[in-house]
Amino acid sequence: MDRKILLNEQDIPKQWYNIAADLPTPMLPPLGPDGNPVSPDMLAPVFPMNLIEQEVSTERWIDIPEEVLDILYRWRPAPLRRAVYLERFLDTPAKIYYKDESTSPAGSHKPNTSVPQAWYNKQFGIERLTTETGAGQWGSALSFACSLIGLECKVFMVRISFDQKPFRKLMMQVWGGNCVASPSEETNAGRKILEEMPDTPGSLGIAISEAIEQAVTDPSGKTRYSLGSVLNHVMLHQTIIGLEAKAQLKSVGIDKPDVIIGCAGGGSNFAGLAFPFTQDKINGAEIEIIPCEPTACPTLTRAPFAYDFGDTACTTPLMAMYTLGHAFVPPPIHAGGLRYHGMSPLVCQCVVEGLHNPRAIDQVECYEAALTWARTEGTICAPETSHAVACAIQEAKKAKEEGKEKTILFNYSGHGLMDLKGYEAYLTGKLAPYYLPDEELAKTEECLKDYPPAEMRKTGKW
Ligand SMILES: Cc1ncc(COP(=O)(O)O)c(C=O)c1O
Repeated sequence: MDRKILLNEQDIPKQWYNIAADLPTPMLPPLGPDGNPVSPDMLAPVFPMNLIEQEVSTERWIDIPEEVLDILYRWRPAPLRRAVYLERFLDTPAKIYYKDESTSPAGSHKPNTSVPQAWYNKQFGIERLTTETGAGQWGSALSFACSLIGLECKVFMVRISFDQKPFRKLMMQVWGGNCVASPSEETNAGRKILEEMPDTPGSLGIAISEAIEQAVTDPSGKTRYSLGSVLNHVMLHQTIIGLEAKAQLKSVGIDKPDVIIGCAGGGSNFAGLAFPFTQDKINGAEIEIIPCEPTACPTLTRAPFAYDFGDTACTTPLMAMYTLGHAFVPPPIHAGGLRYHGMSPLVCQCVVEGLHNPRAIDQVECYEAALTWARTEGTICAPETSHAVACAIQEAKKAKEEGKEKTILFNYSGHGLMDLKGYEAYLTGKLAPYYLPDEELAKTEECLKDYPPAEMRKTGKW
């Protein structure tokens, strides 16, 4: 039985896969303040042009620079593992495989994009990056990348996570990053929110506004903003996960999994695993592909598909996506990285098309699954990852009921060794189930009513 399926270093993917080349119906373009599609140069104050080119590219394969690979080799190719101990515990005929992204230096999939983002910025002559972080995973991943590549790094960390996760902040400092709680007094966006809501737990939307503001107001022009999820180029960089997984499954005689699962905050670890297999689905393969989100922040499962801003202060272009509204401040659930009002437009287009079938799971079921996992497989997963674990368990139980020998593949997006507070809340019975009430969704409609409608384009094939 293959419990650890490893690739040789020389077999690391040398190109990223860009799903924009294969979408059955093209995406709706991002819109500027005048309601017209944004042009690449309008994004230039925020991102370097070499990353903007990737953002708008429709080339199917994009080369990974040798210098980026040289850094990724520190932990890549990442292991594909088979969860045989969980399979035995569940007494399921399903085979459960997981891509172990917790082995990166920062402990998650996030360095797969922080490294290339820092590298492209450095190539473009940028000296400083600003960013937001929810759970702290992205802030530490970018601090790590900046320290290797020689850039300054400033991180706005969502207040609730800043308080819950002091060690993440210290990790950022160890890698030379400068981390402040958001909303902060350092930006107009932060000061305005603090005036209106002094006790706010913060949100990714607010932190993004602060980070963008600091980047675009730097008079030297040497600062840019870096985003850890949502954008097309981030999904692109993460496809190294799925490309490796495909080669690893092939090496044990599996041509295609039956079910693919990833937790979805902004969509990047899910897309990273799922997009290379989505290409197969577009070409006729039968695969169920499930992005999993919390019932507390049910973007893909309950929110409308609409044009909305990526941040609270409305500084980004309008993007066509499932969204709870840019003003949405999600409840302070422990999976900080899944508290985002929107979702990757590429993932959203796949959901509209019916290629991906989203599912929402409550945090109590997720922690139950995380404990089952820790007591069978042995590792302690991130609270975000626990959504994928819970979904994999649901699917393995279903396979047992149906008596089917399915292959389930999920993304183990990160470890939870810096997230033990959530486990404490669960173990002491302080964690309650939370379903977003319908009244909250009514606020979403109100928030979105003035923006252009987003047409749901699909072929109807799936
Ligand atoms: C471990 C882990 N998994 C998943 C996520 C969700 O982000 P994304 O949907 O971009 O993968 C995060 C975000 O911080 C994370 O830290």
